[in-house]
Amino acid sequence: MPSGFRYASSGKVRDIYELDADSRFLTHEERIDEEATLVLVATDRMSALDVVLGDEVPNKGFVLTALTQFWMDRLRDITPNHLVGWRGRDLPGEVAYYAGRAMLVKKLSMIPIECVVRGYLTGSAWSCYKTTGRINGTRLPGSFRHGDRLPKPIFTPAIKNRHGHDENVSIAQMRSAIGAELTEQIHRLSIELYERAAEFASTRGILIADTKFEFGTDRRGNLILADEVLTPDSSRFWLSETWKPGGIPYSFGRELIREWLQSRGWNGGAPPPRLPHAVVSETARRYTEICRILTGQSIDDWIATARDTDTAGSRRGA
Ligand SMILES: Nc1ncnc2c1ncn2[C@@H]1O[C@H](COP(=O)(O)OP(=O)(O)OP(=O)(O)O)[C@@H](O)[C@H]1O
Ligand SMILES: [Mg+2]
Repeated sequence: MPSGFRYASSGKVRDIYELDADSRFLTHEERIDEEATLVLVATDRMSALDVVLGDEVPNKGFVLTALTQFWMDRLRDITPNHLVGWRGRDLPGEVAYYAGRAMLVKKLSMIPIECVVRGYLTGSAWSCYKTTGRINGTRLPGSFRHGDRLPKPIFTPAIKNRHGHDENVSIAQMRSAIGAELTEQIHRLSIELYERAAEFASTRGILIADTKFEFGTDRRGNLILADEVLTPDSSRFWLSETWKPGGIPYSFGRELIREWLQSRGWNGGAPPPRLPHAVVSETARRYTEICRILTGQSIDDWIATARDTDTAGSRRGA
């Protein structure tokens, strides 16, 4: 008997399974939403400069899935999201094997915009500000150092480009690409999601320097939060107590790897250099550390809960 889902494609980090065209899965599983036709499986692959590296970061896929589930649950009163199921018992057929890494989601028509929100000045926005005094075409009031907190969070969209790097655009350019109304809605939601998350993270001693959201629309035209949410792949998390303007705070994401690659002078060419074991293992440690700080649950507990082997009981509810 077919599982109902078959492997469809892979992004840099996720493997995507789609509902089999001739599957009878949906009619047999009434608790699964009729639009839930994709399973996203987060692997341990790591990318930098849009290139998949030759080394995997152990347990990273579990961290991405645990945090996305955590945030989607906390933020769902702001906007509906694509997540339908993540526990082994909610995952169809063979994909239940990936419980902990897998999300059963509504298949959406994705809006080709990376919805970046920045609360602090770092990364590409800092490089751009340093040379032009502007970010995505907008001049910042006053003068800023690296890592400074911005007067209020800013929305700096990028258009997703299938064949190369994402291209930063102004909000006016985003309007001409997807329309004024959708731009307005996405802008407002992205800021609200960031602000709510940043407020929560601050109670755990964490600053969210920046993050990226993706949205899609369902068959009825509703705007839905998709992809991964507030993970160390999509965000920069800083330890508050180490933050000071002009300095480099302790961070939990890909920065160690980026810095090491930069120190080697790598600029995205193939093949990417192999990473030293110490850089990979310290990155893996920081991924699981930020997951525990934010969710209050260890990665082992998450895996046990997702696999329905959690005998000690779950803090995550039904
Ligand atoms: N609900 C959804 N419906 C359809 N596609 C989705 C949904 N949620 C996420 N996606 C897409 O699935 C892919 C996830 O895979 P992954 O994160 O590995 O891709 P990626 O390499 O980051 O690709 P991209 O450059 O397109 O973001 C992304 O292209 C993302 O836009
Ligand atoms: Mg992605």
